[in-house]
Amino acid sequence: MTEKRPLTVLLASPRGFCAGVDRAIQIVERALERYGAPVYVRHEIVHNKHVVNRLKAMGAVFVSELDQCPDDRPVVFSAHGVPKRVPEEAARRDMLYVDATCPLVSKVHVEAQRHHRAGRDIVLIGHAGHPEVIGTMGQLPEGAIHLVETVEDAESFTPADPDNLAFVTQTTLSVDDTAEIVETLQRRFPSMAAPHKEDICYATTNRQAAVKAIGAKADLVLVVGAPNSSNSVRLVEVARRAGAKDAHLVQTSGNVDWSWFDGVERLGISAGASAPEELVEDLLSEIAQRFEVHIEEVRVAEEDVVFKLPKEVA
Ligand code: F3S
Repeated sequence: MTEKRPLTVLLASPRGFCAGVDRAIQIVERALERYGAPVYVRHEIVHNKHVVNRLKAMGAVFVSELDQCPDDRPVVFSAHGVPKRVPEEAARRDMLYVDATCPLVSKVHVEAQRHHRAGRDIVLIGHAGHPEVIGTMGQLPEGAIHLVETVEDAESFTPADPDNLAFVTQTTLSVDDTAEIVETLQRRFPSMAAPHKEDICYATTNRQAAVKAIGAKADLVLVVGAPNSSNSVRLVEVARRAGAKDAHLVQTSGNVDWSWFDGVERLGISAGASAPEELVEDLLSEIAQRFEVHIEEVRVAEEDVVFKLPKEVA
């Protein structure tokens, strides 16, 4: 048997599940325990097929809209948040619904409502079509929130009243890209109201900082996560920008192209906020079958955030 080649693995920490994802998954599990199957879930509860399939096997039924749910079964809304019309419709139909919106997304909703009440026009920095953006824009009447995705959008945005503006952001954006967009807006509209505390959440910030640290030292970075998971896709971009020669998003170890490892001496690994740790463990064990692995954990922050469960399942 040929000897295995040595490989240093830099394991980013924190990585994987955040408190909002953990809470959303627990909500579905507890709803199934309390109310029995089926429990309906509007949209992927979190952006991860592995998690969704496990919950499906337990009796969760995933739908894209409320009209696909019967009136007499519980329905859970995903961690990304929902437009206001969704709980309104559920209440009108007298349905039992449990809102798994992450409290840090709800905080942005509350902020947007506060600005709207104060008569301000609101800029939302985010990605068009992402469920969180649809949910946040859907908190207010159409036209109250203007979406800005890029620095170019920030340069060309023409508000009705430049002196009466506020901005909020999606929680899972790139910290560095967002800073550039905010700088552009604040240069053009110096009186624009900003969030009291950063809208990009602690989990996004910490995972990006950890990937920056490993990206600067690694030849290759693998991020475990789904292509529709905003925070996971951002981690790959951050790794590349930090200096990693190559970086890829993999849903499972089955997506790895082992030719990526040619010439690699230092591999970085992280996982998006919706990716379970068992997928990272599986990836590590596949790597250990091919290389003589030496693992170094690169920790940039400690996390102890836990969110309370809603009363319907507490
Ligand atoms: Fe919430 Fe941030 Fe996770 S907004 S769902 S804690 S990525």
